[in-house]
Amino acid sequence: MRSNPFTFGNPITDARRFVGRARQVEQVFSRLRNVEFESSSLVGERRVGKTSLLYHLADAEVQRAHGLDPQRYLFLYVDLALVDAMTTPARLWQYLLGQLKTLVPTIDFAALRDVAALDNFALAEFFDQLDAQGLYIVLLLDEFENVTRNANFGPDFFYGLRSLAIHHHLALLTSSRRELIELTHSDEIRSSPFFNIFANINVRLFTPDEARALVTNALAGDAIRFDENEIAALLDAAGYNPYFLQAACHFLYEARAQKLGPDAREKFWRAEFSKQATPHLAEYWRHSDDKEKIALAALALLEQPQHPLAREFDARELRALSAHSERVLAHLDKRGLVSWRGERYAPFNALFTEWILHALEETLDDADKPHTLNQALRDALAQSAPQVTPDELPGGLSPRELEVLQWVAAGLSDAEVAAKLVLSPRTVSTHLQSIYNKLGVNSRVAATRFALEHRLVKRESDK
Ligand SMILES: Nc1ncnc2c1ncn2[C@@H]1O[C@H](COP(=O)(O)OP(=O)(O)O)[C@@H](O)[C@H]1O
Ligand SMILES: [Mg+2]
Repeated sequence: MRSNPFTFGNPITDARRFVGRARQVEQVFSRLRNVEFESSSLVGERRVGKTSLLYHLADAEVQRAHGLDPQRYLFLYVDLALVDAMTTPARLWQYLLGQLKTLVPTIDFAALRDVAALDNFALAEFFDQLDAQGLYIVLLLDEFENVTRNANFGPDFFYGLRSLAIHHHLALLTSSRRELIELTHSDEIRSSPFFNIFANINVRLFTPDEARALVTNALAGDAIRFDENEIAALLDAAGYNPYFLQAACHFLYEARAQKLGPDAREKFWRAEFSKQATPHLAEYWRHSDDKEKIALAALALLEQPQHPLAREFDARELRALSAHSERVLAHLDKRGLVSWRGERYAPFNALFTEWILHALEETLDDADKPHTLNQALRDALAQSAPQVTPDELPGGLSPRELEVLQWVAAGLSDAEVAAKLVLSPRTVSTHLQSIYNKLGVNSRVAATRFALEHRLVKRESDK
């Protein structure tokens, strides 16, 4: 029997199985065909298909089809999930150049053996050799935020990389969950001209056509078929997100392969899909700020007007609330967590709607009758405030800012915080200003409240 043509979890590495994204692919290649040989930065939520897209761009046939000769254009994919607190810029360069050398064995480069010798001059020499051979290098840097957020990579590193990209035949294709400029470890990096070399290309949900193609293409020539009702149910449950679609299709395929009857089939794929998808939905929720959660909650309630919870709220108020959240919705749209359904936004799939309502139910259950929706949702959300996870700090704070906030919330003065963290009082006040900006507050009290709501406050014993 044929193996399941739907897979999820691992990126798509076979160009024949890659669906859609024609516009983004053309955008990237047109920038590479440009005499300036320009870099691009792919931005999209976890699991929306960034790594798959990078692999697709690295495919020689795909390059040929877009007017680049794979003999002259060398694409090197690098998974930067490997970068950690131990990784130095020189070590990363040593790795990158080592990989390049396997693609171009004729390159003579002694400095490769000595990490300490890998300065900007040595790098320029290396790329001079490639230029002289008429080669163009494209580095595909997956999860590049692991570098921009890593304090080992200072301004020199980014300055050097930019200068190589400008003066040599080097282009970068990065992927990251948010725009790189939002994912830097310091203001100095954030304001660096490095980021000017990129055009941001958003990797969002599939279009309706791409979503349908994902479901149907994989079944071409297969004895197993999905009927129209099933396809509609899959698209509704999974939305236009390639990961969720692949997962839902995978389980329906399996049910069909096991020759289950229609009811058993539906029961099977829905249960398995839900099991698979739920942790990711919870993660999207955890990585949303309070405004995003409120907007998502309002949209979920609007999707299910018959839900007992929805009946407690005034639909007009809900619509007004989501209409007032234009900027938040635009951001959620960019993240692929909502999709436009003709007249309004909805959570990106039906399972997410259910998940949100369930989460609301749990937190609103024994709360007093709310005064206003806004208040009710706020209260509910405060209770479900996210725990701090190492890779995503609340309010978009940097680890340093978080530390400053924690001590401020514990009641220390600026001078005391400065002493505690071995910083100058001026630096502390700069951090505080940035914390205020990020949290949208303008006082110590309000910042402290944020810290309390997010359970960030240090205990006495931590001091
Ligand atoms: N263009 C695509 N065509 C078909 N399936 C895709 C495509 N992009 C993503 N997928 C599916 O989504 C899953 C997640 O994609 P991946 O590239 O790993 O996302 P990211 O790197 O953004 O986290 C893949 O395992 C695959 O099942
Ligand atoms: Mg990835």
